[in-house]
Amino acid sequence: MQSIKVKSPATLSNLCCGFDILGMALNEPYDIIELIKKEETGIRIQHLDAYNLPLDPQQNIAGVALQAMMTALDYKQGFDLIIEKKIKPGSGIGSSAASAAGIVVAANELLGKPFNKQQLISFAMEGEVLASGSRHADNLAPCIYGGLVLIRDTPTLDIIELKTPPLFITIVHPQIEIKTSYAREILPKEILLKSAVIQWANVAGLVAGFLHADYKLISRSLQDVIVEPVRSKLIPGFNEVKHNCMNAGALGGGISGSGPSLFMLSENESTAILVENEMKAVYDKLGIDYKTYISTVAQHGVEVVI
Ligand code: HSE
Repeated sequence: MQSIKVKSPATLSNLCCGFDILGMALNEPYDIIELIKKEETGIRIQHLDAYNLPLDPQQNIAGVALQAMMTALDYKQGFDLIIEKKIKPGSGIGSSAASAAGIVVAANELLGKPFNKQQLISFAMEGEVLASGSRHADNLAPCIYGGLVLIRDTPTLDIIELKTPPLFITIVHPQIEIKTSYAREILPKEILLKSAVIQWANVAGLVAGFLHADYKLISRSLQDVIVEPVRSKLIPGFNEVKHNCMNAGALGGGISGSGPSLFMLSENESTAILVENEMKAVYDKLGIDYKTYISTVAQHGVEVVI
């Protein structure tokens, strides 16, 4: 095989209470990444999108992740990368993870699968570090595994795949910029024990709710008393979107990853559409451009398309 094309999904991380430890793969949107072996050494990158991402492999998330894998293999030849990003960078729905995870899965397939999923995440993590300056796997792990995952321990990549009942995810991406590095810097370094108790009770409740298909428990547990109060101040319309979407029947939701996208989970598609209308109404009123998506949970992570 000389070339391969993969589809790399957007992901929802944190899921309110599960900061840095819960993530879910989405069917919409996704990036398309093509990887072609070449005789000469080095990585050459072409972007088919209009996001002006760096083409220097050392500054490009996919380039850095691929280089990490090539170094581990002592791979001497080179690659051409053709990337079409449909997940807007900086959206909060795992755009950097889709680049990093997509490229390492593609290269692994092309080279006869020398690495397992955990190893692929550790290479892709180099891309995530370039993007945000921190090592978190809550977008990378669902992007590679698919479905809903718990990262029980990030340094050892102890990843647990969880089941979900049918869910519809509505996302609004207000077109404002929030850098993940900044959204992490502003978080408290220490928290009160009483906040921690509420948070870990909700994480346990949320996981139990997913496993038992208990929508009411999912709804009660989609709460974040630690990160959301700080980050929501960066997102105009946050409180109104949340309030109106809950009134429209959403189970709950909040900030997607580090924002600015907001997400809401719904039990059925008709509610997800009502929720989308509420999101649109808020940003139309505020005069802020936005993009919305309605997705289901992607059961597969990065997939080969050719
Ligand atoms: N868990 C991360 C955060 C996701 O919230 O900062 C951002 O990529």
